Amino acid sequence: MALWSGRFTEGADEFTQRFGASLPVDRALYAQDIAGSKAHARMLAAQGVIPCEDADAIVSGLEGIEADIEAGRFAFDVGDEDIHMAVERALIERVGDAGARLHTGRSRNDQVATDTRLFAKRRCSDLMRANLALRRALVAQAEEHFDVILPGCTHLQHAQPVLLSHHLLAYTWMLARDFERLVVARRAADASPLGAAALAGTTYPLDRQMTAAELGFSRVIPNSLDAVSDRDFLLDLSYACSVSCVHLSRLCEEVVLWSSSEFGFIELSDAFSTGSSIMPQKKNPDFAELIRGKTGRVVGDLMALLVTCKALPLAYNKDLQEDKEGAIDAAKTLEDCLVCAAGMIETMTVKPEAMRAQAQRGYLAATDVADYLAKKGLPFRRAHEVVGHLVLLCEQRGCDLGDLSLDDFKAECDLFEADITEALDLESIVAARTTEGGTGHAAVRVQLAHAKEVLAADEASV
Ligand code: ARG
Repeated sequence: MALWSGRFTEGADEFTQRFGASLPVDRALYAQDIAGSKAHARMLAAQGVIPCEDADAIVSGLEGIEADIEAGRFAFDVGDEDIHMAVERALIERVGDAGARLHTGRSRNDQVATDTRLFAKRRCSDLMRANLALRRALVAQAEEHFDVILPGCTHLQHAQPVLLSHHLLAYTWMLARDFERLVVARRAADASPLGAAALAGTTYPLDRQMTAAELGFSRVIPNSLDAVSDRDFLLDLSYACSVSCVHLSRLCEEVVLWSSSEFGFIELSDAFSTGSSIMPQKKNPDFAELIRGKTGRVVGDLMALLVTCKALPLAYNKDLQEDKEGAIDAAKTLEDCLVCAAGMIETMTVKPEAMRAQAQRGYLAATDVADYLAKKGLPFRRAHEVVGHLVLLCEQRGCDLGDLSLDDFKAECDLFEADITEALDLESIVAARTTEGGTGHAAVRVQLAHAKEVLAADEASV
């Protein structure tokens, strides 16, 4: 019989018992559940609600249970509805009446909210660490290949040359924002619902500040109804995971493209590639594809939680039991994806010649040739048209702008001089982009130092 079965005359139906149970999911929260119970028991004793010897018996009983769970020798019962019931049942079996006093002034409603918040806080910190590792890998590749030039694209068409370091650093800024979202999610979780009891607080002189402090919460939730029904912190965590996965899917899409034979910009290490069961020559970027693919399920986890929370009346409703599976999955999936992406980026081989060869194609200098004319006084719109004609000429001849003679240039516009060759040189084109945040070598050097500063500050804050 369940611990709440006093007012029932019949045992639960076997199917509904299984249908209503959350143990398969919330057993992952055993450490948080035990920590919450220890804090509650100590507080009850400090407030004179239960004898100190009972609190001691409860605490040592809970520690024994924790050791058993960790060693894999804890016997879960078929009737254990959730982790809270499993631990309390085992505690009463171990320490008798003292254990039966633990649930004084507490409900599973504030208990589960406490456990889930503690769990969410821990997972946010884990994800922050994984986020930092990927940023370190990107920064290391950016430093190693600082000067490498590749075609920058818009619409996936060659646009203007950029530094590889600049391109890689773009991802570190996305990840720095992901880190901020995790900070926000962790702050949202960092408030104690314990003491709200079922929904209305209790008649016992509970010290909510004491349990909050012992559990490492920085504040107490001010409203008992909100305390047991708020799951915004899980929405924040799921949203943070979703955006980060979307970023990883963009990075991985480029890894897939860049490792293709059409691009050949990078080669993935063997450890981060797979072969084909039929085609002996294949080396596939499976893990980049898998990370890209896992984005769907993480975004799905967020959607499921949003819909679960929609239109719930105050306060606790059993619907909320559905909150944990998706959030746990989203955090685990993102963590795995971050770890995998970090290894993949760290061990990939960059092919500077292939990048450079592609940067020679697709008239990447066109904007700079137009700027050359504009700087000589031709209105930019006119200059744009002149260079458009030159590109057309190249198309007809099957050559690039650099293959045209000075006469070819002069035939289109007499402002062209011999120094046009400088406007056609990839290094000069890149270096000339001195705008703050631009791809010029000097600007990227400043940006790299900035990215490392933010990284170090984030490292210090985990
Ligand atoms: N297993 C439940 C959950 O995850 C715990 C809270 C149950 N409370 C209740 N009154 N039935 O939400």
